[in-house]
Amino acid sequence: MLPYAIAPSILSADFARLGAEVEAVLEAGADIVHFDVMDNHYVPNLTIGPMVCKALRQYGIKAPIDVHLMVKPVDRMIGDFIEAGASYITFHPEASEHVDRSLQLIKSGGVKAGLVFNPASSLDALKYVMDKLDMILLMSVNPGFGGQKFIPTTLQKVKEVRALIDAVGLDIRLEVDGGISVNNIAEVAKAGADTFVAGSAIFNTSDYRQTIDTMRVALAK
Ligand code: DX5
Ligand code: ZN
Repeated sequence: MLPYAIAPSILSADFARLGAEVEAVLEAGADIVHFDVMDNHYVPNLTIGPMVCKALRQYGIKAPIDVHLMVKPVDRMIGDFIEAGASYITFHPEASEHVDRSLQLIKSGGVKAGLVFNPASSLDALKYVMDKLDMILLMSVNPGFGGQKFIPTTLQKVKEVRALIDAVGLDIRLEVDGGISVNNIAEVAKAGADTFVAGSAIFNTSDYRQTIDTMRVALAK
């Protein structure tokens, strides 16, 4: 099991001050920057693309940037995000015609690769590609918006994926995304997750450090 990582989703940050917001959340103790890319096609919302990722790198952000692609088609965005300084690129298997090829494209750019599963998606796509994965991301809300309620059946899925990862014995991060807060993070960890995306639960508070510290205290129990 990899060490716990807290990954604030910048979807809930103040976009007019994005560089400063990302800096602030990292100074407050965040480990990974979760970067939600939505295309108003695969999901009914439109957010940010590779130019913004590149701008964060140019601003001086050194932390890992975890690019969560909610776009269809997938492959064109992969090259752009490799170029823009992504550390992880994850995508939804149903959005790619050739999942193995998309994973290879990510890896060939020296970037860590992952697959994302919606709350109702089966895990079948994992079966033949575990060796190419650095991350598995389980959605605990339907993708498209921040601030939604955690879907509790995700916990069972987290347990299943934890068992799969442990069975292959690879260093694959198990990330959970959606509705995570100081109140349920411990339960998600107990089910087997090691990486926790939290958008509104962090950015909608006034003291990011206090919120992240409270999450760490919950994780340590
Ligand atoms: C939803 C995004 C999430 C979202 C999480 O489609 O993938 O990353 O920003 O936001 P919260 O933590 O507010 O549920
Ligand atoms: Zn996300």
